Amino acid sequence: MNYNLQLIDIFIYMVENLEREERYPSILIMDFGSQYSELIARRIREANVFSLVISHLTSYDEIKELNPKGIILSGGPSSVYENHAPLCDEAIFNLGIPILGICYGMQLMVRQLGGDVTPAKNKAEYGRAPLYIDNENVLLNKVKDKSIMWMSHGDSINKLPNNFFQIAHTDNTSHAAIANEKQNLFGVQFHPEVVHSEYGFTVIKNFVYEICNCQADWNAQTFIEEAIPIIQKQVGNKKVLLALSGGVDSSTLAFLLHRAIGDQLVCMFIDQGFMRKGEPEFLMSFFDEKFHIRVEYINSRERFINKLKGVTDPEQKRKIIGTEFIRVFEEESKRLGPFDYLAQGTLYPDVIESAGTNVDPKTGERIAVKIKSHHNVGGLPKDLQFKLVEPLRKLFKDEVRKVGKNLGLPDEIVKRHPFPGPGLAIRILGEVSNEKLNCLRDADWIVRDEIKKAGLYNEIWQAFAVLLPVKTVGVMGDKRTYAWPIVLRCVSSEDGMTADWSKIPYQILEKISNRIVNEVEQVNRVVFDITSKPPGTIEWE
Ligand code: XMP
Repeated sequence: MNYNLQLIDIFIYMVENLEREERYPSILIMDFGSQYSELIARRIREANVFSLVISHLTSYDEIKELNPKGIILSGGPSSVYENHAPLCDEAIFNLGIPILGICYGMQLMVRQLGGDVTPAKNKAEYGRAPLYIDNENVLLNKVKDKSIMWMSHGDSINKLPNNFFQIAHTDNTSHAAIANEKQNLFGVQFHPEVVHSEYGFTVIKNFVYEICNCQADWNAQTFIEEAIPIIQKQVGNKKVLLALSGGVDSSTLAFLLHRAIGDQLVCMFIDQGFMRKGEPEFLMSFFDEKFHIRVEYINSRERFINKLKGVTDPEQKRKIIGTEFIRVFEEESKRLGPFDYLAQGTLYPDVIESAGTNVDPKTGERIAVKIKSHHNVGGLPKDLQFKLVEPLRKLFKDEVRKVGKNLGLPDEIVKRHPFPGPGLAIRILGEVSNEKLNCLRDADWIVRDEIKKAGLYNEIWQAFAVLLPVKTVGVMGDKRTYAWPIVLRCVSSEDGMTADWSKIPYQILEKISNRIVNEVEQVNRVVFDITSKPPGTIEWE
């Protein structure tokens, strides 16, 4: 395994992303492969404290350079006594910076400082457990005795290192929370970051405010104030090109850049013909006419639909649309340019994933970056001749929404449901035609209209229609019909990676079905998709 390569990668990543004038993180989350590392970072930011996730291989010197007020060691899938179990630089325990170990992070700290960790004697402990507080400690201030915390572990601490004492236990674990007050080192066996831990957020706030003395000074407004001079300095008087899709990321980016550099920003909106009803018109009137953000409207409808003639395979459709998008983008940027900079709405989860902070505990190899379920067809290749401006790259999605709102974007954009880059083309199964597109657009419009009227829009992750390329028999008036069915797909989700089908009240389903069959020609049947993800995906293609 190539530790050096990884260290260099991460160091370059840190340096590139933390130029001097940028805010340094108050809290660093050292990642040991936990599925919750991002969640820990998000919770800390919910407490208005800026945090970043770093690899567990980050060295003492690199951490010292970043000068955090506290460090959290994440959980992880390994056991600390296994070969190749991920470790951290032991010297960090002597930095004098408060450290909180969570689950694996706590066990690692214990082992590295001379304690002992073994497989749990009784049994592994998963799920809810009441927490019994044994000793007063600031980490558990205002945490109610016997409150429920979320446990997920197969190992337990057998012996604590010197100067540590136990502050709480559960029925199965004597060391559910520990502290070494002299050195400001703390550990919890439970997961304070998950919502099922009743007082989890209190524990996190105790750590960041009371123990690390962090200020609650990270919010959408401070982000904007700090981002604007950085963008201005980076771009100077050069022109910046932005591919606007109308989604919350590119819209927020457009507003932020416009505020920073005004007319040096040129947005390009490529209409591939697969947008929802009224979207291109809305986008142009909103950005261009109302806010005077220059948007070049590129009508490429013909071009895209022609390329899809005879194509039925979903992956091929995506590829064709993606390739065509890049071609149009290149041609049009040459026509409108030259541009020195390209603005991209890269978000923090993408940065963490591509930085690849995980190492396989069994082999010591770097774990491949997580494969995202979506293919971001709107994405552009890396070898375009632009320098990148990515001011959202340290934000989570919910933070982008807050920034967008703060910059004056309306709820209509900020709370918008995700929409795939290839648009309606992947919601028409099989070959795409203008006739089917028009039909789907009308059905989709009714779905959204009724979901909004029912007050469900903001509770649902995505609600949309899918057109099936088969015909079914129906009867309308006295006439037999033979027309397409529409699938109604409504899901609730946190991040699109997993999803559950939404339990829409029957009356609303009835209304949607009636309206679609009555108002959309060529549709005589509506069915409701009751598949969660997994095993289904959110989109049908
Ligand atoms: P699936 O269908 O994989 O979708 O469960 C997960 C989420 O990703 C969105 N999605 C896409 N987004 N380009 C995108 O930008 C795409 O090609 C794409 N495909 C799926 C989907 O709408 C859902 O929110």
